[in-house]
Amino acid sequence: MSLPSYVHLQNAEMSVILHCPGGVPVISYMGKALSDVTSTLMLQQLTTRQEAKCSPAVEPPLSLVPHHGEGFTGHPGLQLSGQDDQWAAGFSLVAVDADKQQAVFDCRDDLRSLQLHVHVRLDTQLNLMQFSTSLTNLGKTEVQVHYLNAATLPLSPNYQRAKTFEGRWSNEFQTRDILLQMGAYVRENRRGKTSHDCFPGIILCHQGTSEQHGECLGLHLGASANHRLMVEVLNDGRRYVQMGELLFPGECRLHAGEKYRSPTLFVSYSENGLSSMSQQFHRFIRRDILQHRPDKAPRQVHYNTWEGIYFNHDVSTLTQLATHASQLGVERFVLDDGWFNGRRSDRTGLGDWYVDSSVYPDGLTPLIQQVNQLGMTFGIWFEPEMVNPDSDLYRQHPEWALQTRHNPQVPFRHQYVLDLSNPEVCEYLFNRIDDILTTYPDISYIKWDMNRDVNHPGNSSGQPSMHKQTQALYGLLAKVKQHHPHLEIESCCSGGGRVDLEILRYTDRFWTSDSNDALDRLVIQRGFSYFFPAEVMGAHVGPRDCHITGRHLSIELRAAVAMFGHMGIEMDPRELTEHERKVLSDAISIYKKNRSWLHSADLFRLDDDGLNINFGYVSDDKQRAIFAYNSIKETGHTTPGRYYFVGLDRGTAYRLTRLWPETLKEYSPSVLQATEGEVFSGEALMQIGLQLPVLFPQTALVFLLEAVS
Ligand code: GLA
Repeated sequence: MSLPSYVHLQNAEMSVILHCPGGVPVISYMGKALSDVTSTLMLQQLTTRQEAKCSPAVEPPLSLVPHHGEGFTGHPGLQLSGQDDQWAAGFSLVAVDADKQQAVFDCRDDLRSLQLHVHVRLDTQLNLMQFSTSLTNLGKTEVQVHYLNAATLPLSPNYQRAKTFEGRWSNEFQTRDILLQMGAYVRENRRGKTSHDCFPGIILCHQGTSEQHGECLGLHLGASANHRLMVEVLNDGRRYVQMGELLFPGECRLHAGEKYRSPTLFVSYSENGLSSMSQQFHRFIRRDILQHRPDKAPRQVHYNTWEGIYFNHDVSTLTQLATHASQLGVERFVLDDGWFNGRRSDRTGLGDWYVDSSVYPDGLTPLIQQVNQLGMTFGIWFEPEMVNPDSDLYRQHPEWALQTRHNPQVPFRHQYVLDLSNPEVCEYLFNRIDDILTTYPDISYIKWDMNRDVNHPGNSSGQPSMHKQTQALYGLLAKVKQHHPHLEIESCCSGGGRVDLEILRYTDRFWTSDSNDALDRLVIQRGFSYFFPAEVMGAHVGPRDCHITGRHLSIELRAAVAMFGHMGIEMDPRELTEHERKVLSDAISIYKKNRSWLHSADLFRLDDDGLNINFGYVSDDKQRAIFAYNSIKETGHTTPGRYYFVGLDRGTAYRLTRLWPETLKEYSPSVLQATEGEVFSGEALMQIGLQLPVLFPQTALVFLLEAVS
């Protein structure tokens, strides 16, 4: 069978050209669509590299899986070991199965009995690519895989900057812009969860790329545990980005016929700036990942008990909270941590998933009925992967905890991690969850938490087990959903510690951060929005004085920030003043009125000016838009600048109304009075902009634009 020299994947806006020189294919072009006037010969001629002084006569290829066998001296995309000379590999391309949108490259190393499959897919409608690889042991003896990247992507020299992601508990998704320099930027995560500090994503951009202009590539690895990310500028001038799962030594042993498959790398491309890059991700997630269909089920407003009462569960208090919440317009009541046996603090009870009869003498039924009668649905908290040493489960099965022999467990919230690779453990957990959901069929939502690092991912046979643990977690989630098809699940991990596209296949939304501090949230939510859409971003109005930061923030600001995610409240609503109650229920009404279109709209972030965080959502048909101006710091001038709307239709006339806040004390008459209810062309709003009013810092303004005929 003759093999192609090039494979050209193409949609209306972009091209990906893969060169097949005989080994593992190489991406030779990835970017704006190339038309028929450009040939692969031109590509080859224009990119000819010569022999450099004191260098290999021919540079080892930067293939999709560069490796030792090809003499590659950067970071290998494949690392392995085995008896039959399997420290390196020498693949030949033996088959290509390709059309315009996807290609599977079958590469073999007959000498070492290895088969490598490389999958590349370009979406038909979106500028979104997916890459993954798999390695099969075709021999008789064991092969250990130490690393197999999802892909290594060469970057054109124009990609000079990177937006990187870092953070910590309650301050996730912090971005930092760096210039790529010779050498590598590397992030390795061994926390056994996607992590707060090491999100598996990066954005690579041209020098001048901004929110609405310029080329960029956003990369995200759908990996819910350990992973590795690297961008390197090689000494020969070439640059590449590589991502894959991080495996422990001996973690992945392939026996005869066994296969390891990498996680999927999702890559979004735009020539029109970062917002457009994010829109590709958002559309893709809405279309292909989420099971939740906003047209069928709008995202219900939550009340979560955690910051209201913590572990102080008591049916009469909970009933009062539910009553107050429903009066505010809440639609789902989520009973957080503290309902199961012995769970009076975070020191005990994890693993004992039985309703605690000392707190709930008649089970959960009276509370659930009360909540339902108030017109709300019911959700409940679990942390299935964990066990407290002080629990009946641990006393019965200490061997069910992950551990490394002879090493004391690293203390972390008084809990250990259960070994999900042990089928008995998964069966126990499934049975407990299933029993609660079957006993209480009106529970329609689980907040699935995970509150510690996996420092000792060793199973009972003394083998590292993080990969198996993660696969078993996906299996458990899938089984719970399969048996309870209407159940929604929230992925929580001490806030945003498990936010990734693979876990989202099995869940419905994320708890974005344990911080409900509206100012911190503006930054966290902005970082989150580079990859994920608003409707999966759990966002709650927290207490007046934030429990995490101590900041005292107005109800107007707290509500304005939460209404742009999947909105909820998390506080003791009995403490609200009359004014706060009114503002909060107004905000909930605005959220309800607009969520159906907001949750399918395009997000446009405005460029960061260091003072404010501004963004807007524009409906698909450009007939409606909502824009937020969040003034955080005071301006250096007597009067602030202008607000330039984006993403509108130039020729359409829009009526401008201020949606938020309802009342605003102003120093003197301002633009807000001059423009309220007036009609402006999209062009005027985008090119002339709106003079901003003088406001106290920490004020949010929200504008609604509606097309008028
Ligand atoms: C984690 C979650 C919180 C809450 C507590 C309960 O920290 O992120 O929202 O559920 O656990 O213990």
